[in-house]
Amino acid sequence: MSNTALIKFDEKEISCPVIVGTEGEKAIDARNLRKDTGYIFYDQGYGNTGSCESAITYLDGDNGVLRHRGYPIEQLALYSDYVETAYLVIYGELPNLKQRNKFSELLAENAAIGTQMQRIFDGFPESAPPMGMLTSIVSSLAAYYPQYATNNFEQDLKTFDLAAPMTISRIRTIVAMIYRYRHGLPFIHPRDLPFCDNFLHMMFSDPYVAYTPIPEVTRALNLLLLLHADHEQNCSTSTVRMVASSGANMFTSISAGVCALSGPLHGGANSAVMHMLQSIHDEGDDGTRFIAAAKSGTKGNRLMGFGHAVYRNYDPRARIIGKACDELLNRLGKSDPLLDIAKHLEQAALHDDYFLTRKLYPNVDFYSGIIMRALGIPTDMFTVMFAIGRSPGWIANWKEVASNTKGRIYRPRQIYVGATKRDYTPLDQRR
Ligand code: CMC
Repeated sequence: MSNTALIKFDEKEISCPVIVGTEGEKAIDARNLRKDTGYIFYDQGYGNTGSCESAITYLDGDNGVLRHRGYPIEQLALYSDYVETAYLVIYGELPNLKQRNKFSELLAENAAIGTQMQRIFDGFPESAPPMGMLTSIVSSLAAYYPQYATNNFEQDLKTFDLAAPMTISRIRTIVAMIYRYRHGLPFIHPRDLPFCDNFLHMMFSDPYVAYTPIPEVTRALNLLLLLHADHEQNCSTSTVRMVASSGANMFTSISAGVCALSGPLHGGANSAVMHMLQSIHDEGDDGTRFIAAAKSGTKGNRLMGFGHAVYRNYDPRARIIGKACDELLNRLGKSDPLLDIAKHLEQAALHDDYFLTRKLYPNVDFYSGIIMRALGIPTDMFTVMFAIGRSPGWIANWKEVASNTKGRIYRPRQIYVGATKRDYTPLDQRR
């Protein structure tokens, strides 16, 4: 294999070095392209652009492969839990017992939100959308805990080992508080409980009746969060890196990631799937109408939970979560008509030429909502749940940017297609 690529245009030929990743992925190093030729690459949406080197997650979308720090997602889903996977994603290795205990301790010790910060909730109407609340409250962390958010990488990296578990733990607490606030319920303070049980306690305990952990529910929540822990250079993670590249602290960078997550094509898809399944159910349709509309090709009619920007195969997380849905409902002795509709839709799409030729398969969001519904989490909270899960990935990516002493500010170029030069017209001469 050649270690240079030749790019030929007009009368000119330039050679660019080829970079090869540890899994054999190849990239043309075009960093000098503009300087040497005056040209830039046009890659709308960056689908063919490697914006960074990263050692966190490997994703092979053609073959449906996902690994964190080398470990296949299937093995992590089977043997690990969310806290351990979070540690792995952030620090690069599975923790030994001492490291794991320390990390869990830090998560527990940093779960509470201070009284001053609690007052921020009072400013929101009860009808405020959960993601709207989460974006503002996460960005306020930099104001409430400025000692971890100095916008000086060297300094912020010194406090990182505390700031990282604090961020994960507090995002979880904030999400539970958003739920309580919007339902007019008193806040429930964290207790000395494992991570997922503590979340369920803060969501569902009452001041006079403590939530009783149910092992199947705890396991399902662990799996759900674990499957969202990181996903390479997705929209929100790239946003975190972009903001971090300006030198911004971790809290601020992550809050930008939360904003990016809110869109219906990214983190908002899980609730859109449930709305779609519910309306199919309510209309008594078997999904045929939705499939036909989805094939029209318009963005507003897409089959939600299907397709992926990088997977051209089954999303491995969808396989795991689809199976977990069945198991959870069986163990809880529940049934959900929406699961039956989802399965029917999946089968119909998997046998339809439109979806087959475009390589559109279920993604993680297709089944994640059914699990959350079984856990008692309302649909409008789904995307904030995704944010808890994704926080280790955002943290790890922020750390990679902050630790890279040779990093540059992210500054893509564009192809300008607006008006060419024209002279200013005074107001009284304008039509
Ligand atoms: N339903 C119907 N048609 C689709 C769908 C869909 N869900 N997804 C893509 N297509 C069509 C699209 O219209 C295009 O058709 P054509 O070639 O005729 O123009 C073709 O498939 C290729 O689509 P694309 O627009 O190039 O796909 P993309 O890579 O830009 O978009 C996506 C990826 C995830 C935004 C898109 O598949 C989608 O909108 N899916 C539904 C929303 C969804 O489930 N999002 C969750 C993603 S996974 C969680 C996460 O990482 O955030």
